[in-house]
Amino acid sequence: MCGIVGYIGKQPALPILLQGLRRLEYRGYDSAGVAILESRKQNLEYSSPVLERVRSVGRIDALDERVRQGGKLTGGTLGIAHTRWATHGWITEENAHPHTDCTGDLMLVHNGIIENYREIRARLGERHALQSKTDSEILAHLIETHYKGDLRAAVSSALQHACGTYGLAVMHRAHPDEIVAARLGSPLVIGVGDGEHFIASDATPMLPYTKRVIFLNDGEIATVFRDRLPVVNLKSAIVDKHIEELDWNDEQAQKQGYPHFMLKEIFDQPTVLKDAIRGRFNMEEGAAHLGGLNMSEDEMRAVKRVSLIACGTASYAAMVGKYAFERLAGIPAEIDVGSEFRYRDPIVDQHTLVFAVSQSGETADTLAALREAKRKGAYVRGIVNVIGSTIARESDGGTYIHAGPEIAVASTKAYTNMVAVLLLYALQFGRLRRVTVATGQRLLQAITKAPGQIETILSRGGDIERIAQKYKGIEHALYLGRGINFPVALEGSLKLKEISYIHSEAYPGGEMKHGPIALLSKNFPVVAIATQDQMYSKMCSNIEEIRSRRAPVIIVATEGDVWARELSEDVIYVPPTMELTAPLINTIPLQLLAYYMAALLGRDVDRPRNLAKSVTVE
Ligand code: AGP
Repeated sequence: MCGIVGYIGKQPALPILLQGLRRLEYRGYDSAGVAILESRKQNLEYSSPVLERVRSVGRIDALDERVRQGGKLTGGTLGIAHTRWATHGWITEENAHPHTDCTGDLMLVHNGIIENYREIRARLGERHALQSKTDSEILAHLIETHYKGDLRAAVSSALQHACGTYGLAVMHRAHPDEIVAARLGSPLVIGVGDGEHFIASDATPMLPYTKRVIFLNDGEIATVFRDRLPVVNLKSAIVDKHIEELDWNDEQAQKQGYPHFMLKEIFDQPTVLKDAIRGRFNMEEGAAHLGGLNMSEDEMRAVKRVSLIACGTASYAAMVGKYAFERLAGIPAEIDVGSEFRYRDPIVDQHTLVFAVSQSGETADTLAALREAKRKGAYVRGIVNVIGSTIARESDGGTYIHAGPEIAVASTKAYTNMVAVLLLYALQFGRLRRVTVATGQRLLQAITKAPGQIETILSRGGDIERIAQKYKGIEHALYLGRGINFPVALEGSLKLKEISYIHSEAYPGGEMKHGPIALLSKNFPVVAIATQDQMYSKMCSNIEEIRSRRAPVIIVATEGDVWARELSEDVIYVPPTMELTAPLINTIPLQLLAYYMAALLGRDVDRPRNLAKSVTVE
């Protein structure tokens, strides 16, 4: 995610802004920039304010060095700064924020995605010469077209025409006493000092100066002066804001008030899932279009096999991709964990499409497997979260999943976004082969409905926490799922074992009678994913068998399934969805179950023992 810092007050802004950016480094970034407005006093008179901007690729230190070399920006007491996590446009200085307009008088930093940036660009016309490939710069020029002397009014008016998400800070040479801040879908916090205010993406940068903060809500715009900060909504109606007194330390601020990064990232899923699919499908055509595939339709039609390579959680997302490619595109698909693929003699040739699926983009086993597949002439595409990571760079194309930085070792939001991107890829191939418009539209409707359904499940977190409280003392657990819910069972089981240290296994429901049933007893609970799909009746039989061995069972069931309640008092209801999109929905309660059990056991949830966030060694 990008990071925003702003300051207006009586102190030199530059050191506050640079230090603020350093405190946001945990969010991940690839470039940074700062702009400062200085009203120089000469002979007791204010000269016309001087507006300076410095940007650089790489770390904050590189920006700091560039500023020192230039000897600029030293005196101003108003400024904005930004760390960029590239989404639109590559990692270059021109694409770094702050962005400006044609006049050079306006400076803007932005966190989020403007969905309709192409339409806005077309409406701006050629008169607006753009320097970058970013959606954010287009926003700066849009505000310029609405500016008639009132900065807040210009921002408010321009935002009526923008679709998407933003956390925004805007300054202007003609307004040396104000910064305009706006929020829709991307957090923005304002720190309240004595004759000074701080603006940031979260409270971390301002904690050394003030713990009195105002959280902007979606649709609110603040005009931040040195001594006041009126807030209005998009209809320009005054909004009364309450100053909160934080008792957070830095890490708590980075977690935006959640007790752990993992819980924050579980709750990020509705938002980041929208980022994963935004602009990548066409509902009218019932089709998906992932530009990074870099394959012609003829090349896509010539693909005879799909091979999905990944590790851990990513491999369970890849397994969902297998089901989707076979179901939608009729293409044989197999999944391999990287550590196996790289050493067995995989059948790979120029008709094989290999996806390397990885959150970090640095997993050694997946990377080695990717290189092996390239060596054998396959098409190799990455499905990766971290921009510019090795797997992304060594793939001949692919797709970023836009989950934002995933700090907790246990992967949650990256898994959900990987599944969504794989479903879109399967649809993209399927529509070239046997998927009709109507089927494609049904799938896309189910995918676009998923963020809201995930919100519903998250709102029931208390029920899941109560189940976790009941089962937190167990030593073993068995997860069962059938069909596309088998990878869901695998992922749920991995979540539990890696953060709670409770032994857990996952099996296809049909395999229980071939061995695992011997384990069952009243002390060996089973988590059964029995949502209403074509395998539902089979799963119900499994649950009957489980109950006859007196083993407790936690059932993930479809809302309205009263039968599940008759089988167990521990039922987690989820909204109904299509079979292929079930992993987007059914995995959420299992993430929460694992989280609450680990938290109740006092585990180091974000940094579980023996594990690393990215396994860059064999
Ligand atoms: C998942 O919760 C684990 N952290 C681990 O299994 C992880 O998914 C695996 O190491 C793969 O990482 P990657 O997605 O960064 O390649």
